[in-house]
Amino acid sequence: MTRTLITGGLVVTAAEETHADVLVEDGRVAALATPGSQQWTADRVIDASRKYVVPGGVDAHTHMEMPFGGTFSSDTFETGTRAAAWGGTTTIIDFAIQSKGGSLRAGLDAWHEKADGRCAIDYGFHMIASDVNESTLKEMDALVEEGVTSFKLFMAYPGVFYSDDGQILRAMQRAGQNGGLIMVHAENGIAIDVLVEQAVARGHTDPRVHGEVRKALLEAEATYRAIKLAQVAGAPLYVVHVSAAEAVAELTRARDEGLNVFGETCPQYLFLSTDNLAEPDFEGAKYVCSTPLRPREHQAALWRGLRSNDLQVVSTDHCPFCFTGQKELGRGDFSKIPNGLPGVENRMDLLHQAVVDGHISRRRWIEIACATPARMFGLYPQKGTIAPGSDADIVIYDPRAEQVISAETHHMNVDYSAYEGRRLTGRVETVLSRGEPVISQRTYTGRAGHGAYTPRSTCQYLN
Ligand code: URP
Ligand code: ZN
Ligand code: ZN
Ligand code: ZN
Repeated sequence: MTRTLITGGLVVTAAEETHADVLVEDGRVAALATPGSQQWTADRVIDASRKYVVPGGVDAHTHMEMPFGGTFSSDTFETGTRAAAWGGTTTIIDFAIQSKGGSLRAGLDAWHEKADGRCAIDYGFHMIASDVNESTLKEMDALVEEGVTSFKLFMAYPGVFYSDDGQILRAMQRAGQNGGLIMVHAENGIAIDVLVEQAVARGHTDPRVHGEVRKALLEAEATYRAIKLAQVAGAPLYVVHVSAAEAVAELTRARDEGLNVFGETCPQYLFLSTDNLAEPDFEGAKYVCSTPLRPREHQAALWRGLRSNDLQVVSTDHCPFCFTGQKELGRGDFSKIPNGLPGVENRMDLLHQAVVDGHISRRRWIEIACATPARMFGLYPQKGTIAPGSDADIVIYDPRAEQVISAETHHMNVDYSAYEGRRLTGRVETVLSRGEPVISQRTYTGRAGHGAYTPRSTCQYLN
């Protein structure tokens, strides 16, 4: 039995902030006590004075080794989970993909194969359903039973991941019965594809145009439609990667009516904008993702949504593609740029900066990055908090350390950073995953294969 004692830190959870010693036994939190009040003995003592002691981050939206546009996202489960650990994230939920004509099971098996024995931190899976038919619907029940309790459907990407409204309604009806949570990529892909074709035909091929054709109105329209379909089906709804102020307004309206409708946004929408997409010499390609980055004015609505709980979760949608050789596939045609941004390593730090800047409180930081994603996707209180019985997924965070984000020093397997040169206050110092040091005083001490597949229960966040 290994015992670790973390002394003198400020323990911050979504619920409270308290100076406490934390005793970890056999990979779990055993007890918290007033500093110095207990004569606990331990194999390892971590001095956390002047530091925060926070739950490991739960990133509920990543894409390791994801096939897209003829290539694969550049982080493997090995490199991506190691980078996550460096950034204070101790659980990811990645998206297994059903191929067209294939079963959910085959997709899930393939993703287990990619991840098994390779992860540095714990992981679970959502399932992308890209072929909703009778047998897919039946399979959903079995997956919910075994811990894959959420399903992403795409209103975008016709011919690839796209589901029509009938398929989405059927999946929502099924989820309404089996307890699954439907996640929707809300953009009107049919209309967007028309605008893409017209833009390319006119010779408008720069990365900047990606942001122009994927209109905020078409995100708002799809968000509204998804909400109405969920309402008709009597199912809860989680809208992924919300970027437009108009889409937040739809969520706010639905929540004001008392509907179980939830929204996620991502650091790129909070910290980046169409200014980045407009960077010259094809540099804008580094910022191509969908939903797209918006004009800076949208950020206030996202921050407000995070404060008012109209948005509940910040995940990364980590889906990195190298600039050289991957983003470059879209030189001369923005529609061929693989969609996605790196960020799994940066989320906890960027959101801490939001605390420093006064956008959110310290407890809200932990709520949107740890506790709520755990509750939303059935991992709480195993993950997302520091309480007796919880997994000892714990970050010792130095709120005063200064850092500059750079591809030179990050650990993600991608040749650029979307946040290059950004100065942040606050940095991860030590990370425990189920009591094991994965990062120790800014040295990697983890190993591929420590991370365990973590089956999930159903959503614990319903009204
Ligand atoms: O551009 C993005 N977001 N790529 C990942 C796939 C998705 O739609 O989440
Ligand atoms: Zn204090
Ligand atoms: Zn998406
Ligand atoms: Zn995604």
